[in-house]
Amino acid sequence: MEIIENSKLTVVGAGSVGSSVAYAALIRGSARHIALYDVATEKVEAEVLDLAHGTQFTGSSDIVGGSDISVAAGSHVVVITAGAKQKPGQTRTELAEVNAGIIRSMMPQLLEVAPHAVYVIVTNPCDVLTVIAQEVSGLPPERVFASGTVLDTSRLRWKLAERAGVSTGSVHAHIVGEHGDTEFPLWSRATIGTVPILDWQVPGHPRLTREELDAIAIDVRDAAYKVIRGKGATNYAIGLSSARIVEAILRDEHAVMPVSTVLHDFHGVDGVALSVPSIVSATGAVPIRNTSFSAEELDLLHRSATALEGVRATLGA
Ligand code: 2OP
Repeated sequence: MEIIENSKLTVVGAGSVGSSVAYAALIRGSARHIALYDVATEKVEAEVLDLAHGTQFTGSSDIVGGSDISVAAGSHVVVITAGAKQKPGQTRTELAEVNAGIIRSMMPQLLEVAPHAVYVIVTNPCDVLTVIAQEVSGLPPERVFASGTVLDTSRLRWKLAERAGVSTGSVHAHIVGEHGDTEFPLWSRATIGTVPILDWQVPGHPRLTREELDAIAIDVRDAAYKVIRGKGATNYAIGLSSARIVEAILRDEHAVMPVSTVLHDFHGVDGVALSVPSIVSATGAVPIRNTSFSAEELDLLHRSATALEGVRATLGA
């Protein structure tokens, strides 16, 4: 993959997610310069050393970092992963209050050193925190968005690909809405190659049924709970998903991805951040307004919006 000259990514938060974002970005060559920032000096310095020790075996990306926010200076992209993480059984929205405080205090400091960056929120609940980050920063909605359901979409494509006997890249399906319990797939537009998903059939892989699709959607929705139960956190797949989003920005790809921006007058949704297919480029993410939804999907989108409005309302100004 081509590496953009002088491109700089800062990852905020050196926990398991932040370190995995940096690791994935280093291996993939997502940015020429990678910085890792965290208030915990010893931890962040140790993660940076560990990552730097492997750079003989990566491409031409370099990694620095520390607990001085100036490490983020001049970033083109800032990925925010800092905050409390889900405990087994806990929902993402239960983290809202503590992580909203972190975003509110961090955004102004980051903007001071990286005023031109595109901001990607990974900390959960990422949709709610995106609204707060956008309000606090005053940035246009396209410049501050969440990784949203890019990860859930990857989970979905992996499952469908296995079931249908094709590569993940041949599955065209999206999870949209909240990155959380009300997310849902856009089944009405899902295809494998060009074949509508319910028509797909090849030897050894019988037709999918609507019931099976519903079960897959539930599995995908609950996937993070399962991983967190088993190992305490999810980190590798979100690391890869985030690195991929960073590449779409730094390479000005205009790639279609289900990231979460604050929506305005979008199929009846206003002032709420939700994932919908969006165009991701150097200027940020722009929702694709003429994405079509079935009547059932539109109801589900509004259900996600209502749920997130409820969480936002509990947080006050
Ligand atoms: C995930 O979906 C927990 O949001 C995190 O892996």
